[in-house]
Amino acid sequence: MEKNNKFAEKFYNELLSGNRITYVYALDDEYIAEISLVYNMNDSDYTIPNKRAYVSRLIVKPEYRRKGIGKALVDFIKHTANKLGLDELSIGVDIDNYPALKLYVESGFDKIIYIGKDEQGQYVKLLSVI
Ligand SMILES: CC(C)(COP(=O)(O)OP(=O)(O)OC[C@H]1O[C@@H](n2cnc3c(N)ncnc32)[C@H](O)[C@@H]1OP(=O)(O)O)[C@@H](O)C(=O)NCCC(=O)NCCS
Repeated sequence: MEKNNKFAEKFYNELLSGNRITYVYALDDEYIAEISLVYNMNDSDYTIPNKRAYVSRLIVKPEYRRKGIGKALVDFIKHTANKLGLDELSIGVDIDNYPALKLYVESGFDKIIYIGKDEQGQYVKLLSVI
C-alpha cells in the first residue's frame, strides 16, 4: 500500500510539474487506453532536454487490444512530440513483453540504446528518430 501511494504521489507530482503529459482515449466516458510523454527521466539514455523524450505507460484495456489502438497512440505521440519540437523518442520495454516489443519496433523504435536487467528482468531501451 505504502509503495502504491508513493507511486501515485510521484505520478501526480510529475503531472503537476508538467514533466509528464498523459493522454487518455475514452469512448462514451469509458476509459479505453492511455499513453504518456515524459520530458525528464534523469537518465540521459531516455531523455535529453529539447531533443529526446520518453514514452511511458502505453496501456490498452484488455478487451480493446489487437484493434490498432496501441499503434494509433504511438503514432499520435510521435506526431505530438514532433509538433513540440522534439527529434527523438525513447522507450523501455521488458524483453519478455512480446506484444509491446513488436508494436514498438514496427512503429519505428528500431535503434537499440541499451540492453540491461533490473528487478523485473531483462529489458531494452529503444529509440525512434521522429
Ligand atoms: C502492448 C499493448 C499496448 C498493445 O496494444 P494494442 O492496442 O493491442 O496493439 P495494436 O492492436 O495497435 O497492435 C499493433 C501491432 O502490434 C503487434 N501486437 C500487438 N499485440 C500483440 C500480441 N498480443 N501478439 C503479437 N503481436 C502483437 C502486432 O504486430 C500488431 O499488429 P497486427 O494486429 O496487425 O498484427 C497492449 O497489449 C497492452 O496494453 N499491454 C499491457 C501494457 C503494456 O505492456 N504496455 C507496454 C509497456 S512498455
